[in-house]
Amino acid sequence: MQLRVRAIPAEKLYFQDKGITIYNDDILTTKAIPNNSIDLIITSPPYNVNIKYNSHNDEMPYSEYLQFSRDWISKCYDLTKDDGRFCLNIPLDKNKGGQQSVCADLTTIAKQTGWKYHATIIWNEQNISRRTAWGSWLSASAPYVIAPVEVIVILYKNRWKKESGSRESDISKAEFQKWTNGVWNFSGESKRKIGHPAPFPVELPKRCMKLFSFVGDIILDPFLGSGSTLVACSQTGRQGIGIEIDPKYCELAKNRVVKEGKIYQSRLENI
Ligand SMILES: C[S@@+](CC[C@H](N)C(=O)[O-])C[C@H]1O[C@@H](n2cnc3c(N)ncnc32)[C@H](O)[C@@H]1O
Repeated sequence: MQLRVRAIPAEKLYFQDKGITIYNDDILTTKAIPNNSIDLIITSPPYNVNIKYNSHNDEMPYSEYLQFSRDWISKCYDLTKDDGRFCLNIPLDKNKGGQQSVCADLTTIAKQTGWKYHATIIWNEQNISRRTAWGSWLSASAPYVIAPVEVIVILYKNRWKKESGSRESDISKAEFQKWTNGVWNFSGESKRKIGHPAPFPVELPKRCMKLFSFVGDIILDPFLGSGSTLVACSQTGRQGIGIEIDPKYCELAKNRVVKEGKIYQSRLENI
């Protein structure tokens, strides 16, 4: 099966090899991907917590952030197949820059844009350090509470039962039993090691792919960052498309795919 790619300005196509494609583009305006073509979206968008990205302002007024979220979530809905799915990794809530119910708000927006709700996985990152403020220390006057977890909201476009694609699953019995328990325990990724301010570990997209897609499916990450989702695609024999607004992060993602994904690439050649 070949990845169907539209003719788009050459400068936006950053990398393409063995079923993996990177566009240096903006998810809000990109024309690179045809509607109704994606099997599974896996992504972690900017959280609006003042992370110093090269090419994105991560400190918008919350109302603006919600409008940005509505725009890209709606765009992703159009790009997804009828039986396509969406794994949305976001914080449960945040207190940096004011308390907000991020998970509740983005789930509501996703449902308003047409996505159907399936489940929420709690990701217990273990090494997360969210305890930047206590509020009123040892006093009930105004203490801060924060749950040191993130979530992966699972949504789908129209039908939960997946019928398109190869119908070949590659998940083991042990993985299936463990991962269908919706509390996942594994560590976050090191920013320093990866060289990006907010990477997630390859383990996260890899689990989502093996649980929710078939071998050979087309996976999209609209906020590619350092390329973790595409590394997981290479390692599991999925086709992957990543959109990233910043050229330096595109280069980082390309290098990671080539280095960390290459030993598995021969599998893709047979699809
Ligand atoms: C939370 S990071 C994603 C990290 C990624 N999951 C990883 O493992 O490295 C969000 C990324 O979205 C990118 N970004 C922000 N706005 C964008 C847009 N409109 N279109 C495409 N990418 C965007 C940022 O540059 C940043 O790299």
